[in-house]
Amino acid sequence: MKSLMIQGAKIIATGSAIPSFKLSNDEMSKIVETSDEWISSRTGIKERRLLTEKSQSINDLAISASQQALEKASMDPSEVDLIILATSSPSDLFGSASRIQFEIGAKNAVAFDLTAACSGFVVGLVTAFQFLQTNTYRNILVIGADVLSQWVDWSDRSTCILFGDAAGAAIVQSCSSIHNSILSFKINTDGKYASHLSISYEKSLHKLSVGNLKLYQGAFKHVYMNGREVYKFAVSQVPLSILSCLEASNMSVQDIDWLVLHQANERILTAVAEKLSISSKKIISNLSKYGNTSAASIPLALDEAIKEHKISDNDIVVIAGFGAGLTWGTIILRW
Ligand code: UT7
Repeated sequence: MKSLMIQGAKIIATGSAIPSFKLSNDEMSKIVETSDEWISSRTGIKERRLLTEKSQSINDLAISASQQALEKASMDPSEVDLIILATSSPSDLFGSASRIQFEIGAKNAVAFDLTAACSGFVVGLVTAFQFLQTNTYRNILVIGADVLSQWVDWSDRSTCILFGDAAGAAIVQSCSSIHNSILSFKINTDGKYASHLSISYEKSLHKLSVGNLKLYQGAFKHVYMNGREVYKFAVSQVPLSILSCLEASNMSVQDIDWLVLHQANERILTAVAEKLSISSKKIISNLSKYGNTSAASIPLALDEAIKEHKISDNDIVVIAGFGAGLTWGTIILRW
């Protein structure tokens, strides 16, 4: 633990990874009763990437995204102090971050998983900022990765059409407080509505022949989502969260250059932008190619926007995630 002098923090590099297998809406309509027309008009999704190799796991995507970010930052993995893996689909319930730490050679890094579903990357970044601003660590790798194709019921057309697999990563570094690029953030949880979106654990009696001892064991079920309720929650809470962050940094919607929202549904992106009176040109959207990649969606969209030279120095970038929990959160960054 170092001094508690308040420092600034900055994203210095990003990376992303997607599986090579592509499933189009037309191919999806051979799996469940649906159509390209329904999926495109209700969600904006045209295709998604799925991890199909038995030997591959979320770790492969997370490692590849992390290595890309490290390379872009010209950083030796041994310089990473902390790895935060935001995921709801780890390859190991005890956590996958430590495997990633070993595989990328980040031998000096502490590593842990963080579960906040589709808000995971935002919560991960906010967590990283705390360690950087208090000068505890200098370099933090935040990864958002999910392989929800392994958790959806492939006979449930209301969910399986939505999700895709991916990983995105960002290296966040402490800097002088004058150059701090994190202008404000706000994260929220409302557990009252947790049942609207879940992968719940179902227990059944596991009989043991030891006296009256009763033990329950079970398994995780598939993704369940009350789509309409989650939709209403997203379009009502996300604009409020963004407005509250803007106010905290003495800014207005006119100051926003780019809106990088969780890529769940094109209609949600448009509705949020309309509520805030932000031009649709400022919305970063790539969900037509990848579907909803949960914790990976924001870093994947951010990484693509950077590769396409959309985001420039000093731009005001608003990042907002929302999803299961229910959780939601916003970060305002000066790039
Ligand atoms: O990442 C976490 C955050 N998640 C989200 O933000 C998701 C938010 N919710 C949504 O994006 C939308 O609610 C969905 C895209 C999931 C669903 O769109 P919707 O307009 O709310 O559709 P719905 O669930 O109300 O279903 C409308 C109809 C139903 O038929 P009936 O009852 O009207 O006869 C469904 O059975 O569409 C039917 N339907 C389908 N039809 C063809 C549901 N899924 C499909 C499908 N293909 N894949």
